[in-house]
Amino acid sequence: MKKILFNARILSDDGELKRADISVENGIITSLCAAEDANAEAYDLRGAFVMPGAVDVHAHLREPGFEYKETVLSGTLSAAKGGITALMAMPNLDPVPDSGEHLKAETDIIGRDAVVAVYPFGAVTVGEKGKELADMEGLAPYVKAFSDDGRGVNDLNLLKKAMLIAKKYDKIIASHAEKEGYGVSPEAEIYAVEAELELVKETGCKYHFCHLSTAKSWAMVREAKRAGLDVTAEATPHHLFLNERFAPREGNFKMNPPLRSYEDMRATVTAVLDGTADMIATDHAPHSKEEKSDYDSAPNGIIGFETMLPSVYTGLVRTGRISFKRFVELVSYNPAKRFSLPVNRIARGERADLVALDIDNPRIYTAEEILSKSANSPFIGAEFYGFPILTLKDGETVYKDINLRRI
Ligand code: DOR
Repeated sequence: MKKILFNARILSDDGELKRADISVENGIITSLCAAEDANAEAYDLRGAFVMPGAVDVHAHLREPGFEYKETVLSGTLSAAKGGITALMAMPNLDPVPDSGEHLKAETDIIGRDAVVAVYPFGAVTVGEKGKELADMEGLAPYVKAFSDDGRGVNDLNLLKKAMLIAKKYDKIIASHAEKEGYGVSPEAEIYAVEAELELVKETGCKYHFCHLSTAKSWAMVREAKRAGLDVTAEATPHHLFLNERFAPREGNFKMNPPLRSYEDMRATVTAVLDGTADMIATDHAPHSKEEKSDYDSAPNGIIGFETMLPSVYTGLVRTGRISFKRFVELVSYNPAKRFSLPVNRIARGERADLVALDIDNPRIYTAEEILSKSANSPFIGAEFYGFPILTLKDGETVYKDINLRRI
């Protein structure tokens, strides 16, 4: 059925917000100045900001293998609630997608249950064990990129071989840069980034650094970009807005890389402001309440789908540090472009993958509202502007705030 979203605000070419009445039919945006239509499903958005659906290139959906933490269905419903219409799923699953057969186990579930677009990463090594290469050549036609996220590939000879295969197939390697033997210290990340950049220089592989967290790593990536290497990097909302100074010793504040110093947090913000960070990604990493109850034994990871857009909007856009245009680039356009995913746009004739954010009314994020199967968020209790009130994927409603009523 035709949908009309009255009283939206959208980004205009000059970077300002302008009013629009958006109609959607058969999955496509058909007008930005729609007229009343008694037969349409219509909403009054009351000035909500309608933007292209977010694209999150770093997510853990846990299925197959760890369904008690999350499933493709619960994870993608949570993503939809967060305004994310496409995501890339990390391969630390059981089985690990290191062969065509193992990947098929994952894509069958995605095909059956996902409510937003899900693009699986292929693993770099068999079982993500860092010992022998996965069937990267066999996987290449079916994945956009490779990663052993959750751990770094520490054998640099093996990593170099992987880079050469990735280059041959024009695929990206997304690195969880962490050098073994250094725990989760800043040095673990810094030494890994340094060594991996050397290999990128040698091989010319397209390389992407996941969740960078230290000032030194950002400085090295800044330099590598200046030198012309084909390198991109992502920042997470938690490394942008939280630091170790005020973090309680609670499972919901434990992740890898961990929250760093105030200076590292500021350097991460600077990286976003000056373009060294190309995109923002969640590292959505659900774990059960039981697993997270004891800090020392808790696994690393926090959920992030539902708070990415509100936290970035509140922390960076509303404070005037970045523009609406840059916001859309960071959470949607740049990740889609880099990983060769469909780009979402608010324009006539475009696919209706979009989200409406309530940017006028702040509210507190609560444990009760979480749609993920896990609730390990350090942002519970935080107040944000910009929560999604409506998300459309291919024109279908995949999330709607209960207070948004049809008119
Ligand atoms: O915090 C993290 N959680 N870091 C990782 O590297 C893995 C992830 C997970 O899978 O839980």
